[in-house]
Amino acid sequence: MSTPLLEVKDLTKHFAVHGRGRAVRVAKADHVVHAVDDVSLALPPAHVTAVVGESGSGKSTLARLLARLITPTSGDLLLEGKVVPARRRRTLGYAKAVQMVLQDPFASLNPIHDVRYHLSRPFVVHGLAKPGRDLDEKIAAVLERVALTPAGAFLRKFPHELSGGQRQRVAIARALAVQPKVILADEPVSMLDVSIRLGVLNLLSDLRDRERLAILYITHDIASARYLAETIVVMYAGQVVEAGPALRVTDEPAHPYTQLLLSAAPDPQRADPVALGDRGVPPSAVAPPSGCRFRTRCPHAMAICAERRPPAFTAGEGHVSACWLLGNGAAAPASQKGGDMDPGTSGQQT
Ligand SMILES: Nc1ncnc2c1ncn2[C@@H]1O[C@H](COP(=O)(O)OP(=O)(O)O)[C@@H](O)[C@H]1O
Ligand SMILES: [Mg+2]
Repeated sequence: MSTPLLEVKDLTKHFAVHGRGRAVRVAKADHVVHAVDDVSLALPPAHVTAVVGESGSGKSTLARLLARLITPTSGDLLLEGKVVPARRRRTLGYAKAVQMVLQDPFASLNPIHDVRYHLSRPFVVHGLAKPGRDLDEKIAAVLERVALTPAGAFLRKFPHELSGGQRQRVAIARALAVQPKVILADEPVSMLDVSIRLGVLNLLSDLRDRERLAILYITHDIASARYLAETIVVMYAGQVVEAGPALRVTDEPAHPYTQLLLSAAPDPQRADPVALGDRGVPPSAVAPPSGCRFRTRCPHAMAICAERRPPAFTAGEGHVSACWLLGNGAAAPASQKGGDMDPGTSGQQT
């Protein structure tokens, strides 16, 4: 089993906010938003890990913590097995190793600059190419890595002259320019036309295989997570509720929330998926329910669910679920500490 490139342990982020949502110090806060609570996960090389959950479940906050754009309230972050001090500013070296791709390529590209300018920046900022021929060759090579060929046809194009899929490929090329080890892709296809989503997902899958990248694929769409990822981590209200090999989690979901997500996913075999909203809405992140946060929507809720937070129970090999339903049978807690849901790399399908 290879060392994960990036790993987090019990990562927590609470936003302290004042009145109209202004961020303040915790001591002065009117209330605290529990955006991410005790999340553990590991991103091995050549492996796609999907984080799945509804809007507001903490996915983007998790990505921003992993990118070190925000500092955690508590918890550890390890890059290639070494602890990264939480309070210290993000170094250029960290930014080179861990790159982010965002949902909206239009917003992440500057409309007044062409493709060549966007792709020259990372080489210049990180001192990775000599101006002139070396830079031109490296820009052409990175365009080829995202299948925008011939490179010459794209260099002078401005963002508005590209299709949505081409724009997202340019954003991915910009991330790849610095030879990162980890890509954090936050809903990278959600804003694209359905017809071009598959092409971008297949590009991510090629990059995993060809360049052995560790990819975090964030999505609200569990079907696309099953398509692309080896491991699926399901988040609900800031916590991991289930994690394991993608096919197991989607074929034999152990947590009632994952079951709900799957019953709401479009499926050609089934005429009428349930609407997620018909089964209630996620709880307030300011005052989440006691015990299991899903219990207010759960058809199986029992007394214990309000009293104690369910620990991670083993639901199969490399498959864990934080649900008291598993606590009744033979299954043993995968960990002593409630909420430690690190699926590790045991779910790898290679
Ligand atoms: N900077 C912030 N200040 C206060 N609350 C925030 C901030 N960023 C995110 N949140 C809150 O944290 C929770 C999780 O948000 P987010 O990580 O964006 O979820 P997702 O990406 O899954 O939709 C939400 O309740 C959101 O309102
Ligand atoms: Mg988000």
